[in-house]
Amino acid sequence: MENKTKHLVTAALPYANGYLHLGHIAGAYLPADLYARYKRLRNENIIFICGSDEHGTAIEMSAMKDKVTPKEIIDKYHFANKKAFEDLGISFDIYSRTSNEIHHKTTQEIFLNLYNKGYLIQKTEKQLYSEKDKRFLADRFVEGTCPICGYEEARGDQCENCGSNLSPLELINPKSKISGDTPIIKESVNYYFPLEKFQPELEKWIKSKTNWKSNVKNYCEGWFKTGLKDRAITRDLDWGVKVPLPNNEGKVIYVWFDAPIGYISATKELFIERNEPEKWKDYWCDTKTKLIHFIGKDNIIFHAIFFPAMLMANVGYVLADNIPANEFLNLEGGKLSKSKGHGILVKDILQEFNPDLIRYTIATNLPENKDADFSWDDFQIKNNNELAAILGNFINRTVVFVKNKFDNKIPERINNKDVEILEYLKKQKNIVSECYENFRFRDALNETMNAVRAANKYFNDAEPWKAIKEDKVKCAEIINNCLQICHSISILIAPILPNTSDKIIKILNKDKSDFSWDKIGEICLKSNTELGENQILFPQLEIKAEEKFVEAITADEITVDDFKKIKLRVAKILECELVPKSKKLVKLKIKVGEKEKQIVAGISEFYKPEELVGKLIIVVDNLKKSKLMGIESHGMLLAGKINGKLKIITVDGEIESGAEVN
Ligand code: 2FM
Ligand code: ZN
Repeated sequence: MENKTKHLVTAALPYANGYLHLGHIAGAYLPADLYARYKRLRNENIIFICGSDEHGTAIEMSAMKDKVTPKEIIDKYHFANKKAFEDLGISFDIYSRTSNEIHHKTTQEIFLNLYNKGYLIQKTEKQLYSEKDKRFLADRFVEGTCPICGYEEARGDQCENCGSNLSPLELINPKSKISGDTPIIKESVNYYFPLEKFQPELEKWIKSKTNWKSNVKNYCEGWFKTGLKDRAITRDLDWGVKVPLPNNEGKVIYVWFDAPIGYISATKELFIERNEPEKWKDYWCDTKTKLIHFIGKDNIIFHAIFFPAMLMANVGYVLADNIPANEFLNLEGGKLSKSKGHGILVKDILQEFNPDLIRYTIATNLPENKDADFSWDDFQIKNNNELAAILGNFINRTVVFVKNKFDNKIPERINNKDVEILEYLKKQKNIVSECYENFRFRDALNETMNAVRAANKYFNDAEPWKAIKEDKVKCAEIINNCLQICHSISILIAPILPNTSDKIIKILNKDKSDFSWDKIGEICLKSNTELGENQILFPQLEIKAEEKFVEAITADEITVDDFKKIKLRVAKILECELVPKSKKLVKLKIKVGEKEKQIVAGISEFYKPEELVGKLIIVVDNLKKSKLMGIESHGMLLAGKINGKLKIITVDGEIESGAEVN
């Protein structure tokens, strides 16, 4: 086995029952990718593992809702999410899936090993059973009132309102999620993992982790205080990994037992692909491995307590070296959460915008220590005021200077005295490294941008436009420096902005032979080389109102009660004016009953302001306030749109403004 430290980086396996949104990316995948890319640039031994989590009642529920099979659901979302990750530049070494045979086999082996060692406890216990549905109602298949907080839509496994872990039997007034049937109680035998037994070992282990984030440690300590309870690891369900013991038909292994094993089976698959089928053990069964789990905070219990206990019981596996769990990312102040049906889908935002800009904006807003926020205004500012004004500007002003004054060729550094800026970059590289090593990715980004700021300052202070007239040799050295800095910057930004980094390398007409972290601040470009074609790295951006899409992630169907929440009213347009600098927006003053208010709508391509005044329209009256190009909007008007044509919805004849619409 290799002597060097091996890094085994995992990112939580997302459920293959929905599209990824920006909250997922900020929670686990971008930080994991930044870390993996940084480590690769340092030529460290690292593999980066992920895949789809394809079992559990969440998948089965989605299939039922869409009236398709679970297999159709997982295929749809597995491939869609795999592509979204690729398009965003998340550089997994493998993106596997837990429906693969190798995963079923690995899970069953680990389960059997625990069974043979006598760890698993068989318990006959009461379960909820629906006679109408002819099945046991596990986890999400049952809903009822939470015994802790009284929330009426608590699931059988968890209350989303208060976060309590529940079992179906604890629910008050349980009802089948499939048919609404009131279940009866029936006995069933299930296997339990003896988590309680592992508490002392787990406590000792976590105590030794002095460099873990406090949110993770505090969370675990909370669990230890309450006392760990044994956990059922089998379920009376069809969909999942079959329990590998005789007389257990109709039972599968609990999804949270099999999902983290997915990290192991994906590693196996990776090395089978690489024709080294035994090599997965070098990572999973060697103390020189640093196993790092990137997750969102809702997964802490499983990665810091449950999975480590499973591995302790199995013996011989490496345990997590760190679990840098993140908090949540909010969108314009509201939660980016699946259950709230609110978020920006990765596949959608990628259709409109540069993946590096998305990565950059999220990286500046990573919820490392507290919840953070994504806003469209910020997105635009990050592009125009940082990426374009600082990074794009430095590369462009250097390259343009070379083209205009040095025949587009890298000028020579004859004296080679002006090296302070390169020395600075070497030091700055170490500061950035320190941030990455300690999972402080926002700081890593800030320090990276400080290096680019310093590059601009160097250009300004050196005044090459003066030197070119007074001392051409000196000017050549300044510009040679600036080009060497461009090369260093392309490496320094590569974890965050991989596409931009490639573009800079192309502009410099350089190969990748010096593309490694230790070359930052070194002289790598040869004089007299002709540069490649210049390009603007970050064109100015003005985000149009209709591009600020907030996709309803769940809830294809809504109930009458959902609909009743939307207050539609007739309103009269009193005033209307164009929003300056916007191609589509108009600002409207409207009257809804006695109330006057302002809304902003993207309709100026279709109506002149004067045509709108006096019209009776329909508005969503209770829409949360939003800002479009800095202007507050307190509602939304309804319009029909097809094939690029738009018509606002008006009412048939006179009716008082303020009238309810339903
Ligand atoms: O919360 C989730 O989306 C889970 N599918 C994460 C699983 S992580 C790992 F254990 F596989
Ligand atoms: Zn509750």
